[in-house]
Amino acid sequence: MERSEENTKKRKLEEEAEGGDNNNGDTATSSESPLKKQQRADTGGAGNGEKDKSASPKTIVEAGKEEADNDSSSGSEVQEEPEEKQKGGDDAKSTTVDNAAKGESGGKGPSSSGNKTDEIAKENKMDVDNQGTNNRSGKKTKESSSNKSKKEDETENPYDKLRWIVVKNDGNPASLIKLVALKSLFSKQLPKMPRAYIARLVFDRRHTAIAILNDDPAVKDTDEEVIGSICYRAFPEMRFAEIAFCAVNAAHQVKGYGTKLMNLLKQEGARTGIEYFITYADNYAIGYFKKQGFTKSISMPKGRYQGLIKDYDGGTMMECYVHPSIDFTSLPAILKTQRKFILDRIRVKAKSTTVYEPLPQDFEPHLEGVSRANEAAARAMAIPGILEAGWTMADLLATTGQGKDVDRAKTALKSELLAIVRKVEEQQYSWPFREPVDTSEVKDYLEVIKEPIDLSTIEKRTRMGDHYKSKQMLYADLMLMVNNCKLYNEPSSTYVQCANSLEKYLGSVFRDVSSR
Ligand code: COA
Repeated sequence: MERSEENTKKRKLEEEAEGGDNNNGDTATSSESPLKKQQRADTGGAGNGEKDKSASPKTIVEAGKEEADNDSSSGSEVQEEPEEKQKGGDDAKSTTVDNAAKGESGGKGPSSSGNKTDEIAKENKMDVDNQGTNNRSGKKTKESSSNKSKKEDETENPYDKLRWIVVKNDGNPASLIKLVALKSLFSKQLPKMPRAYIARLVFDRRHTAIAILNDDPAVKDTDEEVIGSICYRAFPEMRFAEIAFCAVNAAHQVKGYGTKLMNLLKQEGARTGIEYFITYADNYAIGYFKKQGFTKSISMPKGRYQGLIKDYDGGTMMECYVHPSIDFTSLPAILKTQRKFILDRIRVKAKSTTVYEPLPQDFEPHLEGVSRANEAAARAMAIPGILEAGWTMADLLATTGQGKDVDRAKTALKSELLAIVRKVEEQQYSWPFREPVDTSEVKDYLEVIKEPIDLSTIEKRTRMGDHYKSKQMLYADLMLMVNNCKLYNEPSSTYVQCANSLEKYLGSVFRDVSSR
């Protein structure tokens, strides 16, 4: 490549890396349409606004060089400058510790122990033998397997030994080394996303990333150090954040790191006053986000995000509410405790472990005094263990033919009564009875009427199915309603006239029962 051409490309990429620092009012870079992203990436012209002069030139060059070399890993990019890498490495250590402390203030943070690779591996059931680049020492693998019993320690919180950082482009070389590795991870795991777009957002000073790191010193400050990361942009004034990228290194996927990352993010969100996380998930990722508590229905008021993020066709907008009082990194321990509690309670109550002797072939239950209709249920009830398992005679009867007959009769009565109630409600003189008397208005009503009743209550009782055991009972309630009206109101009032008309009507409907 010609020197001048190389310089031009480098310049463009520098702009891309700086693009996030533009103060041109483009606040929604992370949610541009994929097409737009592609166009911007193709032209390499992401940063068209005024550049943030405070950005570290080294940052830009590193990011730019990475893009210019395109396929070379960011890790090796940095390694080409040993002096800088050495410096960055030292700084990286302090950045990690700083961020760890930040994490700890949120409740959890990385442990300060030296080498935690095996512990991370152990926690996540990682087969260190298969981890290629991560397994640089046979000794560690041995240690890992010898620590298996510890792995089963029920009280251990997997987050306690996790090494994780919160990192953003603060101009610190150590942070930039981490961001280069994150950019590489996102580029590898999200191949459809334009690399320049990823670089722009990762290095954008308004974006923050949470990353889980491998503790193996052999991978320190290389791309392999990053197990997984989520890059997001917080809108603190609106108390929400938009997730731009989320990825776990292919060698570590399906081991729970994606969940851990999300819980760390929620924890960090809760700590910093974020109420909602939103993201545009592509079809492949919807399942993962659902498992992390994201929903397609958006409950955050539109006014909070409208104008700040852009809608685009490429993904489904999903949201997760972050409950401020949930300690997300303690979730595994909380769920484990709850599960254990429930299982213990079940064990106390359940009789499933009791084994009864098989019934003798000539088993004949004692059925004296049992009616023929109940015989089948009584026989079942006599089997040792049935009663202890919680069955009742009513349960058993309900499963027999007789039980079904009872159900049928009940349903028929309910339909008949419901039809009557509806007819009553339809009568023009039933209007005073349709709703309960408003006792907040009619203050003395309850002093006079001891059993208030109205058509809506009667209908509810009828719908319940087992309140009225007969037509007679329904008639009694309706007549109570009529008599209450006559008792409270003046005989010449419209209410009493309606009550008289209704009584006459009821007499005809309940002719068969009213005379009893
Ligand atoms: N679709 C449906 N479910 C998924 C899933 C997917 N793509 N990826 C993971 N899951 C499920 C897992 O089966 C697991 O379910 P379980 O709890 O019932 O066992 C749960 O989600 C969490 O899995 P976990 O092991 O914690 O996730 P991970 O470490 O494999 O990370 C991704 C998940 C999506 C981050 C990872 O697969 C990845 O980096 N993919 C490529 C990049 C990408 O697509 N990112 C998302 C959009 S930005």
